[in-house]
Amino acid sequence: MVQTDNGKGGRSSLHGFWSSRLAFILAVTGSAVGLGNIWKFPYIAGQNGGGAFVLVYLLCVFGVGLPIMMSEVLLGRRGRRNPVASMALLGEEEGGTRSWSLIGLSGVVAGFLILSFYSVIAGWVFAYIFKSGAGDFAGADAEQVKTLVQSLEGSWLATGAWHTLFMGLTVFVVARGVERGLEVAVTLMVPALIVILVLLLGYSMTSGEFEMGVRFLFEPDFSKLSAGSVLAAMGQAFFTLSIGMGCVMAYGAYLPQETSIPATAFSVVCADTAIALLSGLVIFPIVFANGLDPTAGPELIFQALPLSFGNMPFGTFFGTLFFMLVGFAALTSAISLMEPAVAWAVESFSVTRARASVIIGLIIWVLGFLSVLSFNVLSDFTFWQGTFLDNLDYLTSNIMLPLGGLMITVFCGWVMCRNASVAELDVGAGNLYQAWRILTRFVAPLAVVLVFLNAIGLLDWLIALF
Ligand code: PFF
Repeated sequence: MVQTDNGKGGRSSLHGFWSSRLAFILAVTGSAVGLGNIWKFPYIAGQNGGGAFVLVYLLCVFGVGLPIMMSEVLLGRRGRRNPVASMALLGEEEGGTRSWSLIGLSGVVAGFLILSFYSVIAGWVFAYIFKSGAGDFAGADAEQVKTLVQSLEGSWLATGAWHTLFMGLTVFVVARGVERGLEVAVTLMVPALIVILVLLLGYSMTSGEFEMGVRFLFEPDFSKLSAGSVLAAMGQAFFTLSIGMGCVMAYGAYLPQETSIPATAFSVVCADTAIALLSGLVIFPIVFANGLDPTAGPELIFQALPLSFGNMPFGTFFGTLFFMLVGFAALTSAISLMEPAVAWAVESFSVTRARASVIIGLIIWVLGFLSVLSFNVLSDFTFWQGTFLDNLDYLTSNIMLPLGGLMITVFCGWVMCRNASVAELDVGAGNLYQAWRILTRFVAPLAVVLVFLNAIGLLDWLIALF
């Protein structure tokens, strides 16, 4: 970010602006592309039966996620403050009440909760960089890779240490405010990630059960689609796009007035979706060829990928590079998870950015131990959705983010005056604007409400009533 004037009207930002449209796209792509694409998408798709889940996921990404991402950027840029203050300000201007700041506050809380478990899994990725580098995957078979992941997750000391390292790194970057360097690095990371994924795809096509994998991902079997999996697909769409918690809004606050919001959002959503689908196509052929369990959950990629790297030429090199890239992708997402809270603390309590980052990072680090212990000491302590990590993930992805998204669409579609959104989207009032408006006013909020009602069993009841 650089300190410049925004030139073309609009409120001035308290923090300066992105140096270019590309810088913003890179930052939002860095936020969106992360463990959600490579770790979570395959395992959630595996647990929810594949094809039909993927179809609902894609519908949610483009029908709900894309308009919400545009709305978030729009609100951030119009408010030009942290998400809490932006929503308070815009709420007052457009709707006569500052209570809309609740959207920002719930986002700050969601960021804390998500980062607490995100950091633990990112820690595993860091551990795998070293395992791969040490040649631990070489010639591995299904049993060996299972033992490898079990020995890591079984030790709270090891997972705790990796979690500490990852949080430390995240706080360091946020505190120093060196995101700008990382933005540039994203230019290399995303293409490099795609190249290695394509390479892995080649391995899966030749050595895996590729046809089975493709069928699993793309042949919808609606009998496998429960109300719970529809909710999981929607939750995953929110999680992977980093929407519903003000993160994109926080970044939008630094966006110059002349940048096109729809084009920006569209390119980010496409890149994010391509990486998730590629990961799925890489993982499942290996899972099926080696008798791994597609419903294995969070361990899934940590079992499947070492099998590929361990048995392909130059696997040690590519494996190490791949986990480094995923670790880096996780870092750029983690930074964005802290941004709403840090920007809010800096603007509200007049603390320095460094101090705010350290304090917030410490709270998240402590909270993260609930997830560290979920795999070992507390693995038998399950309630509601399962372990602590399962519950944090479910609560944030499937409830808090969609609820945040719902409030954002209601605000943008119904509370904010039409002229304001026309001006901010800057695409005229033609078809593109109309499409966004219909998606934002009707499709996205209705979809979220229906999926919620369905998940708690009320939809069938309502349908029967009419
Ligand atoms: N989108 C990130 C991923 O797919 O890994 C995770 C994430 C980042 C979720 C930022 C929410 C958020 F605000």
